[in-house]
Amino acid sequence: MESPFKGDILKGKVGLLTGGGSGIGYEIAAEMGKHGASIAIMGRRNHVLHSAVSALQSHGIHAIGIEGDVRNKEDCARVIETTIKQFGKLDILVNAAAGNFLVPSEDLSPNGFRTVIDIDAVGTFTMCHEALEHLKNGGMIINISATLHYTATWYQIHVSAAKAAVDSITRSLALEWGTDYGIRVNGIAPGPIYDTTGTSKLVPEKVLLKRKQESALYRMGKKWDIAMAALYLASDAGNYVNGTTLVVDGGIWLSSPRHISKEAVKQVSKTVEKKSRDAPVGIPKSNL
Ligand code: COA
Repeated sequence: MESPFKGDILKGKVGLLTGGGSGIGYEIAAEMGKHGASIAIMGRRNHVLHSAVSALQSHGIHAIGIEGDVRNKEDCARVIETTIKQFGKLDILVNAAAGNFLVPSEDLSPNGFRTVIDIDAVGTFTMCHEALEHLKNGGMIINISATLHYTATWYQIHVSAAKAAVDSITRSLALEWGTDYGIRVNGIAPGPIYDTTGTSKLVPEKVLLKRKQESALYRMGKKWDIAMAALYLASDAGNYVNGTTLVVDGGIWLSSPRHISKEAVKQVSKTVEKKSRDAPVGIPKSNL
């Protein structure tokens, strides 16, 4: 789909994306690149990074891939240093790396729980912490979160806890680093996005269809929707936005099944209204 933004809104900017080799991370990298940014992507799998960088370069984007695991502080520091060496600065840090699998809580070991917390929450904090010095000249951060923890999500206790922590990190850093250094820190909470590994791995097709039917906008999200939100936050359009996590899910997390048709409600509502209009004003003493 064609972007509604001008092609140069991120001209001269440098973006570093963890988990940028695939899925939502890659899509954000590609759209930021198409809008003028130079791009560094970080990931654990060299072959994934390699083909992502080739794809980015085929769009004329200055892009590099750097192998690393956000669970490893030295990797984080090295990836940031390599980005600076290559492009001279860092303007936009996007924390999109995430771990996920479906598991009933009773079958999840504490180490399994910790593994996802380490990737999503500790990894996000570590990257922010390591990047701080470089972001002090007008830099900004976007943390990719989720809506799982707004209510509760089956078999996702570890991810829900991790994403709740990510949202909290976003607010705390927005407060501290926004005040002290003018660094804007925001999040994006995607709903189920149709064309990602995460969704195909975690949400059965049947459930996806149901979610679509229950969705306020009657459609599933696409990676592109998330990338557009990231462009908004990263560009000057988002200059006064700090500490928010933008929910980009078409209203799905608010959705619940419709138990009564709209027509039925209108009818019932009219009848009830009419009855109350016709009733005598005031409550009879005998009812008190
Ligand atoms: N069910 C239950 N426990 C699981 C699990 C699963 N599907 N996958 C991993 N674990 C547990 C392991 O049993 C282990 O705990 P234990 O030591 O008590 O047995 C712990 O998690 C670590 O597992 P390990 O395989 O050593 O971790 P890893 O670092 O190699 O990989 C992930 C863990 C989460 C990163 C891996 O599942 C992964 O690569 N996921 C892909 C990322 C992804 O899906 N991204 C999309 C995000 S929406």
